[in-house]
Amino acid sequence: MDIFEKTTALLNEVNDATITSVESLETFRIRFLGTKNVLKDIFGEIKNVPNERKKEFGQLVNSVKQAAEEKFAIHQAQLQSNTDVAENIDLSLPGDITTTGSRHPIQLVKNRIIEIFSKIGFNVEEDREIEDDWHNFTALNMPEDHPARDMQDTFFINVNPDIVLRTHTSSVQVRVMENQKPPIRILSPGRVYRNETISARSHCFFHQVEGLYIDENVSFADLLQTLDFFVKELFGQDIKIKVRPSYFPFTEPSAEVDVTCFICGGGGCNVCKHSGWVEILGCGMVDPKVLENCNIDPKKYAGFAFGMGVERITMLKYQIKDIRLMSENDTRFLEQFKSAR
Ligand code: PHE
Repeated sequence: MDIFEKTTALLNEVNDATITSVESLETFRIRFLGTKNVLKDIFGEIKNVPNERKKEFGQLVNSVKQAAEEKFAIHQAQLQSNTDVAENIDLSLPGDITTTGSRHPIQLVKNRIIEIFSKIGFNVEEDREIEDDWHNFTALNMPEDHPARDMQDTFFINVNPDIVLRTHTSSVQVRVMENQKPPIRILSPGRVYRNETISARSHCFFHQVEGLYIDENVSFADLLQTLDFFVKELFGQDIKIKVRPSYFPFTEPSAEVDVTCFICGGGGCNVCKHSGWVEILGCGMVDPKVLENCNIDPKKYAGFAFGMGVERITMLKYQIKDIRLMSENDTRFLEQFKSAR
């Protein structure tokens, strides 16, 4: 066998080698890649190769070396991953439990309110949370220095007192009235801000859903009927409403609406403070001055408006005792609403 045949035989040996264990891989490594490997021996014989074939011989030895390196790398990786599986993974263990998210209770209630009003033709309108004085106050019949502004402690922007964080979503109603012609039937859900001390019952931000209906001949009776429908859909058919006179600068007359306590059915409990009733919203007939401010003719059109706090209804519905829980992102709180509706 000449030296070329010997080298080719080594190449075949590399290609045919079966490596199935760490031991056989090590034997292979020592033979072909170790410090005293066979290729060194055979390369030492280059002195016996005629000059014109030296190059060819060099290439042949090199190809054996390369084949050996590749084979070694592949089997080393394979054996490594096999040991990883064998040593670290117990295939009989149950899989990791992946937790699914859930809707925030505020979203659940907000969506439910929207769903109910959309059945009777109210469309959702959303707008900015940073408002100007006109849309949050003045257009709503609360000119500068009007005492009613104190009803809603306001965050003003220092450098420009004309800009506020909206204190209610009535600002959206103003924007809609300015831009659309009656009939208007909208819901404005969204986040609002008030400069209040944070406690179990109040927060400096919360959510509202307000509604507005403007058309010819809209009456207070329409308002009551709409709210009665809403309350029965939300809390149950045997819920009754009670309307108390109240005051809002942008509605006249104004009222606050109580519902029979849906926890105790009116008998008296902690939630309703033993009165049998819980307050859920404010409402009234849109003040003609407000319509005028928004370029709607109050002689031709009338409207009603209502507004409710989503946190308040959520707290009543799920008997949540502290409003701060809603914005703390504590998963122990949030997970309780996985199957809630
Ligand atoms: N905007 C009022 C508030 O935030 C709620 C309301 C809306 C009252 C519409 C009457 C009519 O308190």
